[in-house]
Amino acid sequence: MTQGRPLLNRRLAAFGTTIFAEMSALAVRTGSINLGQGFPDTDGPEEIREAAVRALRAGHGNQYPPGPGVPELRTAIAGHQRRHYALTYDPDSEVLVTAGATEAVAATLLALVEPGDEVIALEPYYDSYAACVAMAGGTRVPVTLRPDGGAFRLDLDELRAAVTPRTRLILLNTPHNPTGTVLTREELAAIAELAIERDLLVVTDEVYEHLVFEGEHIPLASFPGMRERTVTISSAGKTFSFTGWKIGWITASPELVNAVKSAKQFLTYVSGGPLQYAVAEALRLPDSFYDELRDGLRARRDLLSDGLAEAGFGVHRPAGTYFVTTDIRPLGGERDGIAFCRALPERCGVVAVPNAVFYDHHEQGAPFVRFAFCKRVDVLEEAVARLKTLAGTGR
Ligand SMILES: Cc1ncc(COP(=O)(O)O)c(C=O)c1O
Repeated sequence: MTQGRPLLNRRLAAFGTTIFAEMSALAVRTGSINLGQGFPDTDGPEEIREAAVRALRAGHGNQYPPGPGVPELRTAIAGHQRRHYALTYDPDSEVLVTAGATEAVAATLLALVEPGDEVIALEPYYDSYAACVAMAGGTRVPVTLRPDGGAFRLDLDELRAAVTPRTRLILLNTPHNPTGTVLTREELAAIAELAIERDLLVVTDEVYEHLVFEGEHIPLASFPGMRERTVTISSAGKTFSFTGWKIGWITASPELVNAVKSAKQFLTYVSGGPLQYAVAEALRLPDSFYDELRDGLRARRDLLSDGLAEAGFGVHRPAGTYFVTTDIRPLGGERDGIAFCRALPERCGVVAVPNAVFYDHHEQGAPFVRFAFCKRVDVLEEAVARLKTLAGTGR
């Protein structure tokens, strides 16, 4: 306290330390297998790591790169959108490189949201969304994805009802963390129709675009009338297994890119110069890279999902992302995911994340716990063996 008031301003006071930091610290302290935070335990392609080394040695990007990102990367991002989705973006005016998707979300919300604006987000939501809406002075309006036949589904009527005259934008995330839901073409078409009818902007976080096991990822920007009102966010972290590099980007109309740039220039200005050159090469990897990534993760999804089911969890097998959401109630007597996750390292040496922290309506998320499967097969096998010892260790 100073001047009789808390140091942290009231917009951020409610947020505390992110659950990922708390759980990763717990994993280290207890020597547990960390299936909490979503980072792979194996680095991405060697040739891409070498590309970063080459860029460093050649002096590419060691000094401030251009504000919007190095031209090589912006061209590669535009090429990626064209190659995978037939979406055309001008690398000079419609692409902006950011410090991971995290900064892209922050800069976009800080740029587009006025105090008092409402931002609709699918609940449960990635934790930085709530903090960024708060920093922008906005009000978050959660629309809950509900368990329905093994998946978590969006109720389109609920989404429509959430729109008010104060709604500025819808903040989407597909494939969705933590539920693994991939929004369908029909759902996306309905969201597009709503956005156009109510004249809303849409910010869509597509960092798991290449991690889809069932169905397909369709960028919202590809729907008629959406390109000009959509900010699409993605990043190299999940696709190329270099989460520490923090190279992300947005693609959007020149007007939206300019608006987001206005905020971004005062956050990091620029970041990761040499890594931007390496990510430009990564984006040009052949289709076989994407196929192997997906097939390898699908096998690990099944390994962990089957193991969790055998250990007694209710399993919501994800259509996308590298997370599986489980229901702890079938374990018997368990209802509180937060208490369960705090006790899990001691009970069996595994760390997971309670989905409740991704909800405004905590009670909706209380029985759900998320496990990450972007880990080596032997690590997942050991985690499953440990989780199977859980029965009978409850308190
Ligand atoms: C939905 C979602 N968006 C954004 C991010 C952060 O991406 P980056 O590491 O590129 O900042 C994550 C990371 O877990 C995520 O799950």
